[in-house]
Amino acid sequence: MSTTKVSTPASQAKPVTAPDIQARKNGEKITCMTAYDYATGTIVDQSGMDLVLVGDSLAMVVLGHEDTLSVTMDEMIHHVRATSRGVKRALLVADMPFMSYATVDDALRNAGRFISEGRAKAVKLEGGVSVVPQIEAIVAAGVPVMAHVGLTPQHVARFGGFKAQGKSVEAAKALLEDAQAVEAAGAFCVVLEAIPVEVAQLITDALTIPTIGIGAGNVTDGQILVYHDLLGMFDRFTPKFVRQYGQQGREAVHYMEQYCKDVRATRFPGDKNTIYMTDDVAAQVRKIKVKKRK
Ligand code: KIV
Repeated sequence: MSTTKVSTPASQAKPVTAPDIQARKNGEKITCMTAYDYATGTIVDQSGMDLVLVGDSLAMVVLGHEDTLSVTMDEMIHHVRATSRGVKRALLVADMPFMSYATVDDALRNAGRFISEGRAKAVKLEGGVSVVPQIEAIVAAGVPVMAHVGLTPQHVARFGGFKAQGKSVEAAKALLEDAQAVEAAGAFCVVLEAIPVEVAQLITDALTIPTIGIGAGNVTDGQILVYHDLLGMFDRFTPKFVRQYGQQGREAVHYMEQYCKDVRATRFPGDKNTIYMTDDVAAQVRKIKVKKRK
């Protein structure tokens, strides 16, 4: 009898839910990754990832903006819908863009759009104490919320750039207060971005919901990275907390160069890429008289 372990394809595995993620506190580390369309959603889901986030980072890595502030709700929905077609197993979370949750009414309407139009299973929003009413309202409406504190890129103007947060005792206390506030408001997990590992440890120990780190050291309940960062596909900058597993941007340029060379040298398309007629039809086609235009 064979003892080979056959893993279940993502399309047949039981979908991961927000309560499943919440139950993983202090358990096996939770794996999370961003994705932005059908192709990237399919790749990430097939890897066995627990959670897929359609992050507003798409403004930068997909749409080429300078920061995350310019992406709109309609653009996000377009990408969330496409990603949802590729994600069969992982929990699909949609990131609420800048100003889409400025009031409780905005937050409810836009979270609702992500669920009904985008087919996401949860939403994420940035902020701590200041967004408690929004989190409470969305959760009360039946939509799971992933919170996000620390370096929240939608506040980049206030921070004066993409800078690590929580580096003083006072700042660490404020971050702890933010994390406890989003937990009390009903968030099922919280992203901790670009903070010292000591602060991440303090918050992870203090909370009963999982912490998902990005630039928060190896002490959180899970990790998340941006798809393009992990694969080396974003050429503008690579934060210190990223581990690049590949250089797919460079590789893709190389393949494009090969294609250009092949086209110029008439090596592409080859025989295998060419559609032929049967010999008798081809013979008749060759006999067609072409009237020259005057
Ligand atoms: O937008 C995003 O991709 C994010 C993750 C980096 C957490 O917020």
